Amino acid sequence: MKYVIANWKMNGRQSFVQSWFKAVPCDFQSTAQVVIAPPLPYLSIVQEHLPAQFHMGAQDVSSFDTDGAHTGDVSAQMLIDAGCQYVIIGHSERREFGETDELLAKKLRNAEQAGLTPVFCVGESLEKRKAGDAWSFVESQLKLLQNYPADKPLIIAYEPIWAIGTGATATVEDVQEMHSQIKQAIDRPILYGGSVKSSNAQELMAIESVSGALVGGAALKPDEFLSIVEAAS
Ligand code: PGA
Repeated sequence: MKYVIANWKMNGRQSFVQSWFKAVPCDFQSTAQVVIAPPLPYLSIVQEHLPAQFHMGAQDVSSFDTDGAHTGDVSAQMLIDAGCQYVIIGHSERREFGETDELLAKKLRNAEQAGLTPVFCVGESLEKRKAGDAWSFVESQLKLLQNYPADKPLIIAYEPIWAIGTGATATVEDVQEMHSQIKQAIDRPILYGGSVKSSNAQELMAIESVSGALVGGAALKPDEFLSIVEAAS
C-alpha cells in the first residue's frame, strides 16, 4: 500500500476547503492511504468534509508533553482529539527556523506516545548534494530514529530541499539511490517529496522503494492531487 499525503502548508481558507472536497467525486476509490494535512484552524472543517477512506494529519506538533503555558503550541494529544492520525515532523521549512535534533526528538516522542504516526522528513540541500555529502547528511538526520519503538508506525519522507516547491524533481536514479540507503539504515515506508505532480507521479510511484508521496503545491489542486493518488493506487 502506498501513501499520498497532502501538505497544504499555509494555504487556503474555509471556502478553499469546501471547494476542494466538492471536487472529489463521491465514488472516489483508492487503494492508497490518503492523508490531508491542512493548516490547524481548518482541521475541523476538513474532518467534516473528509471522505471515509481519507485520513487527516497535522503539519507540526508541540515539543511540550503536558498542557500548560505554551502560547501558540498544539500538543500531540490535541491533534488526536481533533481527529488527526498523522503528523509531519522535521519538514525542511521548519528546520530552517532552527528546529534542532533535540526538539525533533521531543516531537517524535510526543507523537508516538499520543498514538500519531510521524511522517519524519529528511533531505539534503543542493550545496550538500553538489559536495557529494547528500547521504552523510541524510544519515545524520536519521540517527534520531534509531531508538524509535519498532512496534510503532513511522513513515520517512525523503524530500531533497532543492526539489521542494521548485519544479525540479529528483531523478529516478537519485531517488532510488537515496531510498535504498535509507531503507538499509531503517526499514520503514519511505515517501518521496519535492515537486511531485500528476505528470511525474507515475514514474516516481513505480520505483520499488517509493512507498508514496508527500505533496505540497500540487495538493492544492484537487484534480492534480487525485491524479497522483490514482498513480499510487
Ligand atoms: P512541493 O512540496 O510538492 O510543493 O515541492 C513538498 C513538501 O514540501 O512537502
